[in-house]
Amino acid sequence: MSELDPKIVAAINGENGEAQKAGTRKCLMSRRQFLLTSGLTTTVVMVGIPGMSEAETPAVVSTYPRKFIAKLSDLKTDEPFDFEYPDEGQFAESILVKLGQKAGGGIGPDQDIVAFNYTCTHQGGPLQGTYQAADKALGPCPLHLTTFDLTRHGIFIAGQAYQSLPQVLLEVDGDDVYAVGMFGLIYGRFDNLQG
Ligand code: FES
Repeated sequence: MSELDPKIVAAINGENGEAQKAGTRKCLMSRRQFLLTSGLTTTVVMVGIPGMSEAETPAVVSTYPRKFIAKLSDLKTDEPFDFEYPDEGQFAESILVKLGQKAGGGIGPDQDIVAFNYTCTHQGGPLQGTYQAADKALGPCPLHLTTFDLTRHGIFIAGQAYQSLPQVLLEVDGDDVYAVGMFGLIYGRFDNLQG
């Protein structure tokens, strides 16, 4: 059985800067390796094949780009910053905001800086300009009024949607804030990574 390339494992685990170089590769991965390596910066697709042992289940590991978003020192509480991730394609527009209170997936000294995709998971309504500082929420969506809680991984708190808003995973390196992955599928896409 082939072992997982150590460079891929290192990239998945965020141990070095190899994530960008690694790209997308086919590999063989045991279920245990899958559980260990389904880290923050990866999308892993498992396909079970009848007759094939668990240890030889094929998997495709895709690595997100690491993109500089903003300076930590420039961020002010409740002043959103817009950016695009993981590419500049359709539905990539996203919000970065320092909430001023600890949040799920939050980074920075106070774990209060989060980022989310701007496209409503119900039917793709645009959530730009709907940040509510008082509630630390995004919405209501202009189409059917869904509102999402940015302190709790973008879970919907009212309205028509039944899926959380995709969260952009962030990383701090000194004073630099980077986007390094996504949790959740962006509306309108079959795969967050296009092309
Ligand atoms: S598209 Fe946003 S609630 Fe329907």
